[in-house]
Amino acid sequence: MKVVKTIDEVKQAVREWREEGLTIGAVPTMGYLHEGHLSLIDRSVKENDRTVVSVFVNPIQFGPSEDLESYPRDIERDSALCRGHGADIVFNPEPGEMYKDGFSTFVDMSVLTEELCGLSRPTHFRGVCTVVTKLFNIITPDRAYFGEKDAQQLAVIKHMVRDLNMNVTVVGCPIVREADGLAKSSRNTYLSGDERSAALILSRTLALGRKMIEAGERDVRKITDAMKKNIETEKLARIDYVKIVDIETMQQVETIDRPVLCAMAVYIGKTRLIDNFSFTEGE
Ligand code: PAF
Repeated sequence: MKVVKTIDEVKQAVREWREEGLTIGAVPTMGYLHEGHLSLIDRSVKENDRTVVSVFVNPIQFGPSEDLESYPRDIERDSALCRGHGADIVFNPEPGEMYKDGFSTFVDMSVLTEELCGLSRPTHFRGVCTVVTKLFNIITPDRAYFGEKDAQQLAVIKHMVRDLNMNVTVVGCPIVREADGLAKSSRNTYLSGDERSAALILSRTLALGRKMIEAGERDVRKITDAMKKNIETEKLARIDYVKIVDIETMQQVETIDRPVLCAMAVYIGKTRLIDNFSFTEGE
């Protein structure tokens, strides 16, 4: 396995693989890999001849007061994990390699990005769509793997691929959780001991919402009100949003009469965590 810093090195490897008729999987990440990322790599290694994992903390998807500087980084550890899981290349560019002086072209999307995380992070998805487009152009993968924990991101990327006729199949992979239910996230490393315990309010509140739906409740207001009340019992928690949206369009619904995503973003201390579940009648 090679760790490469330049776009040219990735393109060269891709050219050689294509000459041999090999298929390529891409796993875009911002590094500090956890079992969630590793499940994406495992799936890619299983389904493709070659796998490229990108490790790039993408500056343009962070807002001015967000955690770009403090975002955890450890390329040595990430590379060892990628090697252990059978990746072929780790692409770890510097920001200047991805965004040359004068960079001024962005991929933007309306509607899907205007709800949930897009409301509290208005430039986030423009940054994600732009970097993912660049990675797709560089790696030209047959398949690309993303976690369902970032459900809106997954929906946005699928929609972008459809809208812009990109030649890649986007594969969503299930959320990986700690034994006590907390969804794995690189940002969990920010949590103090007390905050780590408090963070369980997310998965517990999702369980409450799911239980209400499974018991037949279809009124979204009733479900989200109960969920918010539950989160408010945790004093270290501050709600950003708790919403139920159409799983395709990410637009809010009043009644659960179609496949939906129940999603939340909650600050535990200063750390913003997200989690979700989807519900389709009869599944
Ligand atoms: O999900 C992430 O880690 C990032 O948003 C992604 C898709 C790698 C783009 O920077």
